[in-house]
Amino acid sequence: MTAVFEDIDAWREKRLAQTRAGLTLGFVPTMGALHDGHRSLIRRSRQENNLTVVSIFVNPTQFDDPADLARYPRTLEDDLAILHAETTDFLLLPSAGDLYADGYRYRVSETECSSELEGAQRPGHFDGVLTVVMKLLQIAQPERAYFGEKDWQQLTLVRGMAKALFLPFVIVGCPTVRETDGLALSSRNRHLSPADRSRAPLFYQALTGAKAADDAARQLQTAGFDVDYVEDRDGRRVGAVRLGGVRLIDNVPVGG
Ligand code: PAJ
Repeated sequence: MTAVFEDIDAWREKRLAQTRAGLTLGFVPTMGALHDGHRSLIRRSRQENNLTVVSIFVNPTQFDDPADLARYPRTLEDDLAILHAETTDFLLLPSAGDLYADGYRYRVSETECSSELEGAQRPGHFDGVLTVVMKLLQIAQPERAYFGEKDWQQLTLVRGMAKALFLPFVIVGCPTVRETDGLALSSRNRHLSPADRSRAPLFYQALTGAKAADDAARQLQTAGFDVDYVEDRDGRRVGAVRLGGVRLIDNVPVGG
């Protein structure tokens, strides 16, 4: 059974007892609507730690668009079934009031890379992500925390924050889990119309198949995608597109 903690202080007491008993903890922060991508992170954590805690919190400060926040899928019953099936030890389910008792007056900002790519499209997004990840890490107190490569810029920024602020937690990056047709699993995929769902794998195909980032962008535009960006950065080709109002992001290794 997965033990659910809504109360932050109750979890902190529990974690203190675990630490005293020498039990290592892996932490998987999520916004719920769990799928096989999240499951892969949980499995990795279970392999590498005595105990695993998952958090589910749809973090308002990382949404720049209130409509996007409102329609973010909330599927707690299904999520709990998945956590039980994965024999996850603990679920943290904090409230917004408890996590942001300061009214978001205190926040973590990165001043360069967080305003590029995803950050250029979604102002303030990475302040929200870094701030909530910092809070959740401090609450969970894990040995290791698991993040997907699917959100490459997020992973890079979380790693950078952990290093810059001397956080005593290891940040572990995990490979992107895809459908058999190549589409990266995402909670947003469920909003795609059947026609857009069948076109969506072109995104991954263009990122991997095109010679240059600009060629990939052109191929996608020709196929009817709205392209926010496709760029090669630090050995990675990163992209974001919109299909019928649904935003998809992905990235692949590039250039050797
Ligand atoms: P969420 O989108 O729920 O994702 C939680 C974690 O699952 C992230 O580390 C994400 O990169 C990973 N993930 C999502 N899809 C994946 C896939 N197809 N393969 C592998 N990993 C995948 O990312 C967030 O939540 C939030 O920004 C959060 C870090 C929880 C802060 O609010």
